[in-house]
Amino acid sequence: MAQSDIGLIGLGVMGAMLSLNIAEKGFAISVFNRTSAKTDDFMAKAGQLAESITPTKSLEDLVASLKPPRAIILMIPAGDAIDAQIEALTPLLDKDDLIIDAGNANFHNTIRRSAHAKERGPAFLGMGVSGGAEGARHGPSIMGGGEKAHWDRISPILEAIAAKYEGQPCATWMGTDGAGHFVKTVHNGIEYADMQLIAEAYGVMRDGLDMTAPAIGDVFATWNDGPLRSYLIEISAEVAKTTDPDTDKPILDVILDRAGQKGTGRWTVIESQQVGAPVPVIEAAVAGRNMSADLDMRKTGEDLFGAAPRTLSPDALSIDELEAALMAGKIMCYAQGFVLMDKAGATYDWSLPMPAIAEVWRAGCIIRSAMLDDMASALTDNPGTNLMFTPFFAEKMRNSHEALRKTVAVAVTHGLPVPAMSAALSYFDTMRTARSTANMIQGQRDFFGQHGFERIDRDGSGYHGPWVA
Ligand code: 6PG
Repeated sequence: MAQSDIGLIGLGVMGAMLSLNIAEKGFAISVFNRTSAKTDDFMAKAGQLAESITPTKSLEDLVASLKPPRAIILMIPAGDAIDAQIEALTPLLDKDDLIIDAGNANFHNTIRRSAHAKERGPAFLGMGVSGGAEGARHGPSIMGGGEKAHWDRISPILEAIAAKYEGQPCATWMGTDGAGHFVKTVHNGIEYADMQLIAEAYGVMRDGLDMTAPAIGDVFATWNDGPLRSYLIEISAEVAKTTDPDTDKPILDVILDRAGQKGTGRWTVIESQQVGAPVPVIEAAVAGRNMSADLDMRKTGEDLFGAAPRTLSPDALSIDELEAALMAGKIMCYAQGFVLMDKAGATYDWSLPMPAIAEVWRAGCIIRSAMLDDMASALTDNPGTNLMFTPFFAEKMRNSHEALRKTVAVAVTHGLPVPAMSAALSYFDTMRTARSTANMIQGQRDFFGQHGFERIDRDGSGYHGPWVA
């Protein structure tokens, strides 16, 4: 007999945690996993919550166990597996049943799947879920996309399981089709940039100021009590202060410097180029990860050129200046991310709710930080304005861009790579330069290709230099 409020397919870490969260909030849930041993294991570990969970051994059983109209969350790997799962479920479901893809899907796939669902059903929602395993278990940040009516049907469950910021659930409908997965993609791009900026600050302290990992951890912990307060700074402090039980060394000193990635940062960068809204800090972060992966090449480089001198004199840069630089870099990164979302919204016909995006990121997700509440206010009070020009953040930039400049300058002269901080500084300088150097580019384009240019002293376009006969 149908009894469950919702179903979930895929009992990997995220799916298992999300199922327990749903059960804990008082909803009956049915679960299914391709390998049924995993389902048995999950049920054995579910404790008291197992009373609200119905394990099923086939898709038919799963569907039969759900109250109509049914809703099924997919927590399986992004890509072809999602299409295959939709194909397998479709003959078993009614047209107004709902499939929810809660993985890190490429939003272009979500747009395609939404269009397909509209034609033949069942209905489809694309949902970005952030917060890792801990978030999924105790309160993630949820970014939804699809038909609003479908979102409304399951939003009571989503709001119940989501993280809360001062009582407000971090679960928001972002717009039609791929909007939710797009916002999650930009979240991840920003996540990459936040992490890279922190790693660069760590590098300045480790290689420039010769500080030990635990001492750097103490600095991060102090910063976490100030304007940089955030989940990523908090865990960076933890990581830096942790000792490797096998060697008794700081764990950071035994972790290989080769970073992995699953691709969402790259999607952010690709999309930014497509819609003409560059995100250079995120680009630097993605490039940084790729360069980190080329360990052998970097070793060859060090053998060939020698390591840079790196060590700073003790008074070259203060920890407070480094903190201010990190803040300025972070503001630049978010400014770029919000401009990207604004432009993509226009391209894809979404009206992405900028303040609500900042709000939904205030709790539960990986990039949660104190600054996001100020961003939500700034974007509410100054709609359509680049974040760096809003009064609150303009003031922050006035107070911190010199520290960013000094940090980048000191790092560069000592051979310390700071690509994301440098990109942030260049963005700041570019955005406050009314007369850029693109007049030269227009001159070159006209010279070799007769592409034409505009003039500062006349209206219209299509002017040519005297080099065009
Ligand atoms: C989140 C994270 C998560 C992401 C991991 C790994 O919001 O919870 O963004 O969705 O999958 O952080 O990402 P990379 O492997 O690309 O670093």
